[in-house]
Formats: sequence, structure tokens, C-alpha cells
Amino acid sequence: MRTIDWVDGAIELIDQTLLPDELVMLRITTVDALIEAIQRLAVRGAPALGVAGAFGVALADGDRKAIARLREARPTAVNLAWGVDQAAAHLEEGRQAVLARAERLRDEDIAACVAMGGRGADLIEGDSLRVMTICNTGALAAVERGTALGVIQTLHERGRLAEVLALETRPLLQGARLTAWELDRMGAPYRLIADSAGPSLLARGGIDAVLIGADRIAANGDTANKVGSYSLALGAERAGVPFFVVAPETTIDLSTPSGEHIEIEDRAEEEIVSVRGVRLAPAGTRALNPAFDVTPHDLITAIVTDRRVFRP
Ligand code: MRU
Repeated sequence: MRTIDWVDGAIELIDQTLLPDELVMLRITTVDALIEAIQRLAVRGAPALGVAGAFGVALADGDRKAIARLREARPTAVNLAWGVDQAAAHLEEGRQAVLARAERLRDEDIAACVAMGGRGADLIEGDSLRVMTICNTGALAAVERGTALGVIQTLHERGRLAEVLALETRPLLQGARLTAWELDRMGAPYRLIADSAGPSLLARGGIDAVLIGADRIAANGDTANKVGSYSLALGAERAGVPFFVVAPETTIDLSTPSGEHIEIEDRAEEEIVSVRGVRLAPAGTRALNPAFDVTPHDLITAIVTDRRVFRP
């Protein structure tokens, strides 16, 4: 099953807001509907956003203003703008050429995830591994197979995985809703933990590696990813646990020199004061909701891409 694809003249994608309760495909025929799906996280995760952006250009019928709006629908994951640009470069050649580039980009993502899975699994030493991860970096965040969760899936397939500790990932619970759903379908052993338990569980010992994905990697290796990644990196360093970033090279943004230049998406206060429509905080409570944080490069043991391994 693919998270996102082009089917009979439209984008079809899994509506991730309905998981794990319902597996529903959305059929998207306009750029506005795609922007709405991206902003409410029906489709999310850097590689999937890249593919969505590229297919979205095929829906735009050459409307450059619509393409510009799509490119900026979410600011932190560089793959969205990159995917849009890759497809838009073929606008002069017509819709078929745009679509052909988007389909190639989809296929490249599938191959990249297979390559990262193998390379990451080769890099991590030991058997009976216990690993920790945040957010969702699985097939749902890409096309057929994930990045960091793709490595974990490969470890599982090779019989080397003892347990995954998955952070629930407040406020939108990508860990609890999506990563748990994917691990369950893989038949991989896992337990869910509260986000704030991550660093202290690392300190307690018995965890072999932390694996995260990335939304944008600056030229110096600083890495933007789901908020909470930085606390895990600090905890991992303190505990002497290797901390791996797994991402395709399309997530590396050489035009951004370092992490302080990465735009961090601020999302609605409502996502913090309530959970899935149920208000938790007193009415009128204000909230601050940065969706991502930046892990400085010196806290990263290695960045595993589809082509190589970068070390500090
Ligand atoms: O807000 P989201 O769910 O789009 O955030 C996703 C992440 O932070 C992922 O870790 C990242 O995009 C890498 S996905 C392979």
C-alpha cells in the first residue's frame, strides 16, 4: 500500500488524521484541497510532502500563483518546496512532463528509503536491539517505506530488534496514532512512552540507539525535526547512547548554513490546549506551539542518507 500516489488523474492519499481508527483514502483534484490536506496533516512527513508537492504541480494547470501557495503550505520541511520546484521546472513542457517528473520523484523516494533502511541497519551494532524514536518516520511519512522507522523495520526483518520505545509525540500524537499503528502492522515489538520520559529512560540504560527523521538538515548538519527531538539528543549524549538522523539527501538544504536559519512552523494554540477536540486547559488558556526544534550537529552521532553516512 502506498501512502500517496497519482491514480486516474488525481492524487490519492491516506487521510492520516483518521488513523488508527479508520483507513480512508482521500482523492484530491485541486491545489486548494491539497493545501488544506497538508495544513491539517492529512498528509505529512518530509518525503511524503515532497511527493505531494510534485503531484500538486500537475493539478495546478500551470497556475503559478497556486503553485507558489502550495510551495509555502508548510515552511519547515524542505522537501515540500523541493518537490514543487522539481515538478515546476517542467511546466513549459506541459502537464505530461510535470507528471512524469512527479512519478519519478515518487519512485526515487521508494528507492531512497530502501537504501537508508539497509545502510542504517548495517551501521547500528549489536543484536537484540532496543531503540527509541519520535514522531512518525515510517511509510506514512514517505511513500512505501520510511526513513528512521525504515531502519527499524529492516532491523526487525533481520531479526535484530528486541523493542522499540516510541514517543507518543504531543501535541498531534504522530507516535501514538501512526508509529504504533505501523509497528503493529509490522509485527514489531514496541511500547509507547510519554514524551517527557525519553531522556530519563535513556539515562536508566538498556537503550542501544535513538533514531529520528528530519524535516530540514542545514549545511553544517544541524537538523530540524519534530519538537522533542532536541531533548532526546541531549538525553542521548548524557547517557552515551548513539543518536542517528535518517533522511534522504533531498532533506539536506545547503542554502541554509545552520539551524538558526531554519524557519520553525508555529501551529495553532488549539492543538496544545486540547486533544482531538476535547479541551484540557481552562477556557482562554494561551499556548505556544512550535512544531519542530533544531538539534545541533554536535549532538548527532551520524546522519544516514540514501547515499552515505555523514559523521561530525
Ligand atoms: O509535523 P509532521 O508530522 O509533518 O512532522 C514530521 C516529522 O517531524 C518527521 O520526523 C520528519 O518529517 C521526517 S519523516 C520521514
